[in-house]
Amino acid sequence: MTLSTAQIRQKFIDYFKRHGHQPVASSSLVPADDPTLLFTNAGMNQFKDLFLGAEKRSYTRATSSQRCVRAGGKHNDLENVGYTARHHTFFEMMGNFSFGDYFKHQAIEFAWNFLTQELGLAKEKLLVTVFSDDDEAFDIWENHIGVPKEKIIRISTSDNFWSMGDTGPCGPCSEIFYDHGDHIWGGPPGTAEEDGDRFIEIWNLVFMQYNKQEDGTMAPLPKPSIDTGMGLERISAIIQNVHSNYEIDLFQNLIKASAQLVGASDLDNKSLRVIADHIRSCSFLICDGVMPGNEGRGYVLRRIIRRAVRHGYKLGAKDIFFYKLVDALTSEMGEAYPELADQKPVIEKVLRVEEEQFSKTLARGMTMLNDVLRDLEGNEVPGEIVFKLYDTYGFPADLTADVAREQDYTIDEAGFEASMQQQRKRAQQASNFGANYNSQLTTEHVTEFTGYTDEQGEGRILEIIRENEFSDSLNSGEEGVLLLDNTPFYAEAGGQTGDKGVLKIGDSEFVVSDTKKMGNAFAHYGKANGPVSKGDKAEASIDASNRAAIKKNHSATHLLHAALREVLGDHVTQKGSLVDAERMRFDFSHFEALTGHQVTQIEKRVNEEIRANHTLTTELMELDEAKASGAMALFGEKYDEKVRVVKMGPFSIELCGGTHVKQTGEIGLFKIVSESGIASGVRRLEAITGEAAVSYVQQQQQLLSEIGSLLKSDVSGISNRIGQIQAHQKELEKALAAAKQKLASQQGADMLGQAVEINGVKVLVSKLDGVEAKALRGMVDDLKNRIGEGVVVLGVSGENKVNLIAGVTKGLTANVKAGELVNFLAKQVGGKGGGRPDMAQAGGDQPENLGTALDSVNAWLSDKL
Ligand code: ALA
Repeated sequence: MTLSTAQIRQKFIDYFKRHGHQPVASSSLVPADDPTLLFTNAGMNQFKDLFLGAEKRSYTRATSSQRCVRAGGKHNDLENVGYTARHHTFFEMMGNFSFGDYFKHQAIEFAWNFLTQELGLAKEKLLVTVFSDDDEAFDIWENHIGVPKEKIIRISTSDNFWSMGDTGPCGPCSEIFYDHGDHIWGGPPGTAEEDGDRFIEIWNLVFMQYNKQEDGTMAPLPKPSIDTGMGLERISAIIQNVHSNYEIDLFQNLIKASAQLVGASDLDNKSLRVIADHIRSCSFLICDGVMPGNEGRGYVLRRIIRRAVRHGYKLGAKDIFFYKLVDALTSEMGEAYPELADQKPVIEKVLRVEEEQFSKTLARGMTMLNDVLRDLEGNEVPGEIVFKLYDTYGFPADLTADVAREQDYTIDEAGFEASMQQQRKRAQQASNFGANYNSQLTTEHVTEFTGYTDEQGEGRILEIIRENEFSDSLNSGEEGVLLLDNTPFYAEAGGQTGDKGVLKIGDSEFVVSDTKKMGNAFAHYGKANGPVSKGDKAEASIDASNRAAIKKNHSATHLLHAALREVLGDHVTQKGSLVDAERMRFDFSHFEALTGHQVTQIEKRVNEEIRANHTLTTELMELDEAKASGAMALFGEKYDEKVRVVKMGPFSIELCGGTHVKQTGEIGLFKIVSESGIASGVRRLEAITGEAAVSYVQQQQQLLSEIGSLLKSDVSGISNRIGQIQAHQKELEKALAAAKQKLASQQGADMLGQAVEINGVKVLVSKLDGVEAKALRGMVDDLKNRIGEGVVVLGVSGENKVNLIAGVTKGLTANVKAGELVNFLAKQVGGKGGGRPDMAQAGGDQPENLGTALDSVNAWLSDKL
């Protein structure tokens, strides 16, 4: 029986475990501390520090099955997916690692034995490469393993010298290839046909020996080490006797599930392959906390989702389908990656929302693109069309390229980029509209900020801006902007609002209402009381109580951020924030509304950390160093090389340039006041701290006391008391309904007295006031029951409106139809009506004619009875 992909994965881990390797779980697709890496792209990523000797663990041999994504970053296979038998956005890399333990000899032996003995591959199907001058590896393959010389190929290119990135651990490598047979196009490595699907690289053995430095030099590693990577999907294809990764059990199951969802029947369809590939990368990326967005990792994810959705559309999918594949994926991979199964509901929700959103514009965008392609002269889709599709219909450029490629067209990437640039420029111009001074700012316009420690300071006026122009002075009573060389005023940044306060300038005063950055200078916005001139000295004092409130709110956002991740999970990342003296607003990625319990829990955790009274520390660090220490940074945000790291005990560590309390205890109290959703996958919390939080709680308390006194209850008894009142009200409502019923039936009895007899049949015609239309039916039923055999007609007049109802008892309906009767009457009051023979209703708009209409009943009836 052939092995399943899951069994091969397990066999690999078991084999290396038997040979003294520690099985290590796959790390996240989002590299923990490596800003140089977009996504985890190899098994060795998580062991980087072990190779460098910067970290020690209790084991020196490890093995793993690592989830990898190669899309959007330096290693990008997105464009090849669906076009070759072996490329994926997501794949699994099986690896064995030695950290200064065994080296070349044993690494080669392990790999060869696993392939030929454990998996039983035919030796003659295998060939290997070595780095051109690696005689040692050549010798091991030839003389120790016994591979014929002609099947050991020396390669001099970077293909056989593997490095993780521009810097870091690296070394020569030796790759093992499998020959799928001459019925498949392709040539051995090193030949012009090497890109075909015949000779497939299945395992790369890297002999880690160096640490590549920034300047390109190679420092030796503390100890030679081993890093290997075997593509699980590729080896499964061989074991399962197929020539494409997409034909292995795992992919076939995903392809079948996709086909069923979109209603496709040809399982070899390229689009099904793309969808099956993409559901893996998308699900695992979301599982690891990436959310679809417009930049960085989030945009790569969005692009892959949209591509998959477009392929579903192409196959004729009638409905949102992509998220439904998570089920099949979890069946295939949930056991090996329990985190996938755990996160299934989140993944489904995120994918569903994203697909729903895109499907609103997909069809229209496709119509436009197809129209363009139909009429296109030449073979390139113009950049402005690609841009329009992007801007109006949300088509990522690579999606447009994918559609174009299917019809043998390409896209004008440079033209698209140019349109993008123009748009950025327009946006920038719009935001600087009217600011003539911007172009005049020079490198001389630099402000030193002293406000981390000081609330007062002395500076000099570098520049005055008056009515959007540089000016030498400002008159008393005029508004303007002052740039100082030195200031304790914080300029709005990182969500924290700018400071307010006063600048004393000689005998004049400049009242600062806001501070913002202008290039490298701090701009103080305000109004002059007394004349002010360029070059004047300014004694600056910030509004200290305003700043104190801001600090509390800002420090609390850090605690909140950490608490959110603790309570909701690591997928929470900051999407935006606003901190001023009154409150804070914090936007973050999360897929659904927070429950009351979660909000309480988050609030509780923040308050615990406030009471822990952590001393806040700030430190300037290199960006890499900061990230390595676990500091939370915003992805896509541009940071300087030196960053400021703000720490609050072990609980929170973030990159931040804002102003903060000295001890968390100063925050006093943290209170969440609202929770809402602001975009798909983004929630917003608003909260208050310190004095404001105390007043808020007091006001709530006051409100409760007032309610209590209205209810004549103490606060703790309010719920009970409301319960009692509600129960009492229900009883009253019941009693009222019964009384109404009774009254109606009494009225009915009184009305019966008015009935006349026509040809032996009782006829009751009555005009009522103030009875609601809905009550009429019940009344007529009741009257019919009491009357014996007869006809009941009731009319109600209201303002500009008439309601009519007629009831006929069963025995008479052969002669008298209620529908006809009511219609006869309705015509006289400007209306129309109808219904069953025994009961019919109508309306009209001429109440003034109701009397005459009712008077005509008897005559109408005498003809029929
Ligand atoms: N790190 C090596 C690779 O990715 C094994 O090929």
